[in-house]
Amino acid sequence: GRPDTFYEAVGGHETFVAIVHRFYEQVADDPVLRPLYPEEDLGPAEERLLMFLEQYWGGPQTYSHQRGHPRLRMRHGPFPIGPLERDAWLRCMRVAVDEAHLPEERRRQMWEYFEMAATSMMNKAW
Ligand code: HEM
Repeated sequence: GRPDTFYEAVGGHETFVAIVHRFYEQVADDPVLRPLYPEEDLGPAEERLLMFLEQYWGGPQTYSHQRGHPRLRMRHGPFPIGPLERDAWLRCMRVAVDEAHLPEERRRQMWEYFEMAATSMMNKAW
């Protein structure tokens, strides 16, 4: 890939695989998040988040080729997401991002995005 993307700058595929995998390890054990997932197997959900994040940060555009326009808010419509779910999601992602040991400015930028994105996914107030 192009060396001037955020994706390449933080280590490319390997880094995103590590973050998303660590995130889903925690989802599997999370009493707030796990029940929201309709499938027994979290593998496909992990793969979709990986493809989406790689695409968002300037990596391969595989997500859109396979899934079309992200429309993430719409795709989350079936799942009740309030402050509790948002906070649980961010708690898991925080561990995953911190353990990736990105350069501070990259970590800050990614974290700002996740806080914004997770808040925008909320579809209930409680
Ligand atoms: C899908 C929960 C936030 C990206 C899903 C699914 C659930 C879920 C239950 C369905 C699993 C599946 O695809 O099989 C949540 C909760 C959130 C949250 C509780 C709390 C705020 C986010 C955020 C992002 C994201 C912030 C991106 C930065 C995705 C993607 C999919 C997905 C890409 C797959 C969409 C598709 O192509 O079908 N999420 N999510 N989610 N989520 Fe989230």
